Amino acid sequence: MCGIIGYTGYSEARGILLKGLKTLEYRGYDSAGISVYHPDFRECLTTKCKGRVEDLERKTSDIKGNTGIGHTRWATHGEVSDANSHPHKFGNVTVVHNGIIENYETIKNTLDVADKLKSETDSEVVAALIDRCFTGDPQQAIVDAVKKLSGTYALAVMFDSIADTIFAVRNVSPIVCCKNDDGAYLASDVVAIGGYSEDYFVLPEFSVAKITKDGFEISNFKGEPIEVEMLKLDWDISNSGKCGYPFYMEKEIMEQPRVIEKTVMSRIKSGLPDFSCDKVDDEIFKKCSAISVVACGTAMHAGLIGKHLIESVCSVPVSVHMASEFMYSNPIVTDDTLVICVSQSGETIDTLEALKYAKRHGADTLSIVNVRGSSIARESDNVIYTDAGPEIAVASTKAYTTQVAVFYLITAKIAYLKGKLNYEGVTRFISELQRIPEAVQSVLDRRSDIHHLSNSLLTAEHAFMIGRGLDYPALMEASLKLKEISYIHSEAFASGELKHGTIALITSGTPVIALVTQQYLFSKQMSNVREVQSRGAQVITFVRRSLKSDELKNCFELPEMEDEFMLIPAVVSLQLLAYYVASDKGLDVDKPRNLAKVVTVE
Ligand code: AGP
Repeated sequence: MCGIIGYTGYSEARGILLKGLKTLEYRGYDSAGISVYHPDFRECLTTKCKGRVEDLERKTSDIKGNTGIGHTRWATHGEVSDANSHPHKFGNVTVVHNGIIENYETIKNTLDVADKLKSETDSEVVAALIDRCFTGDPQQAIVDAVKKLSGTYALAVMFDSIADTIFAVRNVSPIVCCKNDDGAYLASDVVAIGGYSEDYFVLPEFSVAKITKDGFEISNFKGEPIEVEMLKLDWDISNSGKCGYPFYMEKEIMEQPRVIEKTVMSRIKSGLPDFSCDKVDDEIFKKCSAISVVACGTAMHAGLIGKHLIESVCSVPVSVHMASEFMYSNPIVTDDTLVICVSQSGETIDTLEALKYAKRHGADTLSIVNVRGSSIARESDNVIYTDAGPEIAVASTKAYTTQVAVFYLITAKIAYLKGKLNYEGVTRFISELQRIPEAVQSVLDRRSDIHHLSNSLLTAEHAFMIGRGLDYPALMEASLKLKEISYIHSEAFASGELKHGTIALITSGTPVIALVTQQYLFSKQMSNVREVQSRGAQVITFVRRSLKSDELKNCFELPEMEDEFMLIPAVVSLQLLAYYVASDKGLDVDKPRNLAKVVTVE
């Protein structure tokens, strides 16, 4: 939702903070700011403004100091404005905050500071509360203050009276830390500090870190020192830039063959699915009589594919829930339910809260997560990490395909354990899975054909996507991609459902994207395509090579795979379609309006 960064050490803080904020802009990009401790004035000097980090950069050229904190904002409380930008200073205290404080109005009234506040934010109230709690001991002031908070927070705090020192504390919202010979660093996401050290740690919740150029002192709320679990950065951080692509999204689409292969290959032993590297015991798959998948957005769409695969191959019932609705929908969760949470960031609070609910109700929990050490990963009984590497573009692409790849592996595992597939059947399933990277590459190699097809959508306001069977949930993901980066109102429909109402919206020139990959549904899907064509729809078809027919115009041919394995190459081609429409419309593909990469508000 927002991004925070902090540094204290032997170098000038400004450049390090700005570099970190640029990397964190995907988390929130409506305003930014930094505060640096001025060694002569002996106070924190703040520069902040609405707009992008480069706007802030132009305002901060003369800032000196070796200690500072910074923030990129996705507005939750208060409009997008200079005043509501972070950092916030009240009295002796300067704060940057990621999260939502639910009782900030009560605290504001109790402190009686309404007339002293300069912003509409909950975060400035936190600064006032810490300032009021400060009687000389900064850690105690922070502990006393946060004990009064309800809600989520990752806070980096500086005090005018304490030179070159940063304090940090968190509840749910993430903070990762690392150090090197040049100093100590903290950030919302390891992608912002991974270039400084490959060893990092996640600040434990409800602990306070005191950070100086020599490193970290971490204590619990009783003031007792605590140890942290060191983690190893397991991706090539030098690959964390755009590598020459105009947008991260294109780079991440192009990385998919490699990251799908990396995610799959490390979990196949002698042709069989194997989760021993994740320390996931077969027992959770053996004992489950039902599966609930809980996730949001694209991650939920990956869950829909998982449902189709597991139910069709394993005959195990799978329900898929929007995480934001899960705990309010009286879900049936028992001790033989396996709840699978899917999340790229591992910080989506809707999914995290649903996970905690499932655990309270006795379910085994397994999470499919991309970011190591994230809140959902740490809260889960079991974790399977996708090997997508850092995903910076707000529109999720490689995270989705690696999540689906894990669902293929889970399907094969359950099918084998429950005797639905014998050794030959499972090894054949797995060998088809291993063909996916090559099939995706063949789509990427012909992306110019997709770019050409995208031109017909540039002026569209609405678009319909129609498919049957597995093509329908695949199109739900494709539709979200088109919506969220090109701002075209797009809807996915099960083709057979159109004639029950929605076809009333199809008129001459209406853009319709048809996905035709499922052999067993081909004739019915073709009937539905003809129905919209006969009403004047402008149809673009993504069709598997063996099903292509002359009556299908504006086609993109998809590589041949077995029915269940067609959807990843299909979705990749539709990711590209959405990407080309948005980029040719001149939109900010990586940072679409109103969106943030990590949604840590409910
Ligand atoms: C997908 O393109 C969106 N960025 C969004 O739907 C995202 O998938 C959703 O917010 C879930 O995020 P997570 O995977 O980090 O939990």
